[in-house]
Amino acid sequence: FNLAIPANEPVLAYAPGSPERKALKQALQEAKAKQRELPAFINGERVLDGEKVSVHPPHERSFTLGHFYRGTQDHVHRAIDAALAAKPAWESLPWQQRAAVFLRAADLLAGPFRARMNAATMLGQSKNAYQAEIDSVAEMCDFFRFNAYFLQEIYREQPLHSPDGIWNRLEYRALEGFVLAITPFNFTSIAANLPAAPALCGNTVVWKPAETQIYSAVVIMELFEAAGLPKGVINLIYTDGPEVGDIVFKHRDFAGLHFTGSTKVFQQLWKEIGNNVGHYRSYPRIVGETGGKDFLVAHPSADAVEVAVALLRGAFEYQGQKCSAASRAYVPASLWAAVRERLVADMKTLRSGTVEDFGNFINAVIDERAFDRIAGYIDGAKADDAVEIVAGGGYDKSEGFFIEPTVLLTTDPRSKTMVEEIFGPVLTIYVYEDAQWEETLELVDTTSPYALTGAVFATDRAVIEQASRALRNAAGNFYVNDKPTGAVVGQQPFGGARASGTNDKAGSAINLQRWISPRLIKENF
Ligand code: NAD
Ligand code: ALA
Repeated sequence: FNLAIPANEPVLAYAPGSPERKALKQALQEAKAKQRELPAFINGERVLDGEKVSVHPPHERSFTLGHFYRGTQDHVHRAIDAALAAKPAWESLPWQQRAAVFLRAADLLAGPFRARMNAATMLGQSKNAYQAEIDSVAEMCDFFRFNAYFLQEIYREQPLHSPDGIWNRLEYRALEGFVLAITPFNFTSIAANLPAAPALCGNTVVWKPAETQIYSAVVIMELFEAAGLPKGVINLIYTDGPEVGDIVFKHRDFAGLHFTGSTKVFQQLWKEIGNNVGHYRSYPRIVGETGGKDFLVAHPSADAVEVAVALLRGAFEYQGQKCSAASRAYVPASLWAAVRERLVADMKTLRSGTVEDFGNFINAVIDERAFDRIAGYIDGAKADDAVEIVAGGGYDKSEGFFIEPTVLLTTDPRSKTMVEEIFGPVLTIYVYEDAQWEETLELVDTTSPYALTGAVFATDRAVIEQASRALRNAAGNFYVNDKPTGAVVGQQPFGGARASGTNDKAGSAINLQRWISPRLIKENF
């Protein structure tokens, strides 16, 4: 068992007439042909009790995909007990056997589960086929394969000196207790990775997903089961977040939180854990990837067309609901006319509608709460004299939660939509005087509390270096002449600092180290 560095899972094109397109169309039809009862998974058992809640595609509100059952406090207790009971056997397996489960899961996902996982993500989270493929297949496979490889490299490395007569070594233990994974709706791959990464390291997990991602979460559990994950290692429950927190954060065996979601919720959870800190066996590991207000800043030396294309893709793919989405841009006056012309022209070609029509680039935002929040930002911009609506501005929730990709032009670089995370298809642009480049870098760095992703466009090497230095702390993932979205596991480890998270780089050895508690052993002989 010696893993070579993996290749990234190829992204299929779903061209008309291709076998993958036929398989995906069929999986979509099958999914819609019958309503699914979506069970929680506790100790390997399917649990269907609690308050019945129906699940609808965000782009087709009147259609019912199935039902889940909002869990009770009893589910939380049972999931914790199951995780603790499964722990001794799971953590004492050779790591290669744990890795083999997730490597099998990757192979099943690339094969027989591919169409089903994509169909579930498309219907449940309103992602088009391409966005589903790069997330729920390619990125998920990459997480499983690269994490196995990184774990091997961690185990292999023993950076210790052993003088004559002494044997120093590190034993890589799992954390003592169980891990809680709380996951967001916007990436199926992140939802899978948050329980899977600690589990790979020998931990057992209670997983609470976003309610709006449950439809694909069930397919992830079926995938783990098919790959041979022992019962109780990952337990999926649908109890409300605060109720889960109430029980988990008071539990003596709580060992770590693997969270991705909003900054507000993460800060709340951190406080709750802090309030109970004396109660735990060990200091819990707290890993959180949170919000962003990601920027694109163009220098006068940049190519206007490249900037416009990066803005369109960076801001509007998956309706702007990527933590990495470009949502504030700084464009020099000398480039603005050309950027605007190309951006507006390209936006006119974007089609919007259901995911089943593969020609639609734009689908719906996730739910009514998100729709109302985003529409509120657009209404605020319409009422603001400092803002011009360059494109879009419309919204309609009669059939699904559709919001037009919207470009705002503001004269105030500190306006609400330049500073706050909107998490929807709204891009705000500030046009600066070419001579104000250095002041603009200062604005980029200081006007938002977040530091997740950012991009600089320039052709002048000295300017790239200058921007890189000035924006050193403004983004955990910094892109030069590329959009700020689309990090690939194994190529661009992902995460941000400041209000954007603990920057433990998902899909990297840095992240895995957080789920390991090393024991040093010194032996004289
Ligand atoms: P959210 O914060 O609303 O929810 C995230 C998870 O927290 C969900 O499972 C939710 O049910 C749970 N939750 C909410 N309140 C809770 C509570 N009081 N106790 C316990 N759990 C609770 O986020 P979301 O809408 O699902 O996702 C969007 C957010 O996630 C955005 O802010 C986005 O930037 C962020 N995000 C960040 C990254 C990253 O890598 N930095 C990646 C994806 C998403
Ligand atoms: N991998 C995702 C992106 O970079 C989070 O957009």
